[in-house]
Amino acid sequence: MSRNWGNSSLLSVKELTRIDFEEVFQQAKEILPDPDLFKGKIASIMFFEPSTRTRFSFTSAMMKLGGEVIDFTNPEMTSIKKGETLIDTLRMFQNYVDIVIIRYPGSDELIAAASEVSIPIINAGDGTNEHPTQALLDLYTIQEHFGKIDGMRIAIIGELLYSRPVHSLALSLAKFRDIKMRLIAPKGFSLPTTILQELERESIQYEQTEDLNFADVDVVYTTRVHAERFTDKDECERIKGSYRLTKEIVKRKLSKDAVIMCALPKTFDQVDPGVDELKQAIYFKQAGNGIPVRMALLKMILS
Ligand code: CP
Repeated sequence: MSRNWGNSSLLSVKELTRIDFEEVFQQAKEILPDPDLFKGKIASIMFFEPSTRTRFSFTSAMMKLGGEVIDFTNPEMTSIKKGETLIDTLRMFQNYVDIVIIRYPGSDELIAAASEVSIPIINAGDGTNEHPTQALLDLYTIQEHFGKIDGMRIAIIGELLYSRPVHSLALSLAKFRDIKMRLIAPKGFSLPTTILQELERESIQYEQTEDLNFADVDVVYTTRVHAERFTDKDECERIKGSYRLTKEIVKRKLSKDAVIMCALPKTFDQVDPGVDELKQAIYFKQAGNGIPVRMALLKMILS
């Protein structure tokens, strides 16, 4: 059954069905700027962690549809600094705006606060947990490139433990058919057990390995080492560069028809800049898809 998108929050991809993904993709494919659609509507872009793509693509998406934005990206200059809680902050914002797009470090706190307010809340990344709108644009990109998602063979490589984009990606792919996933990560840094259990519940075929082997895949999805999440900086340094992609490695190991994706930002120890020149590298196109996908999502929730 299809989801009732109107005025709904989006906190996790677990809320979405395959049909919901397909509805967003259809809208994203068709959507055009419309300066009248959101006349009088205001979004708060409330970011407690750094962002380039998510923050500015949501801002741009809102503006392309004629809406306005209240930028809440320096909590130090708000009453959070005086000890106000997230719940109380959102209670105030439901008087000021029509929707809050929030990046917040604490997942449980965000979920609890979202349940207390009457306006939709979109999770733009909750700590190490999830990044649902990134998964929407990632799957949209796969659909756009290959014309399908079913049957995809995907290698997800890098430090997967703290990567919210790949957590949402894996959970989202699990809603499609005949997916084969290879999780290539340093020992101890593969997907969290809770996500592996969810893949097993959905009967998704996955394998875990430390070997950089992606000869037989359609998609290589690379993720950086999330240095900001590590308390043990030596461990962080130890695993940096474990799966660095270079032009030479890609040419030798990856099929010409396969693509390289990344949520971005990418780091030097993750992807050599030379890879950007390869036709297989579609990560900038992928990031660009953040605009139609987020426009579509906002339209479905707010209009
Ligand atoms: N992909 C992504 O979430 O990028 P930002 O952190 O720059 O928003």
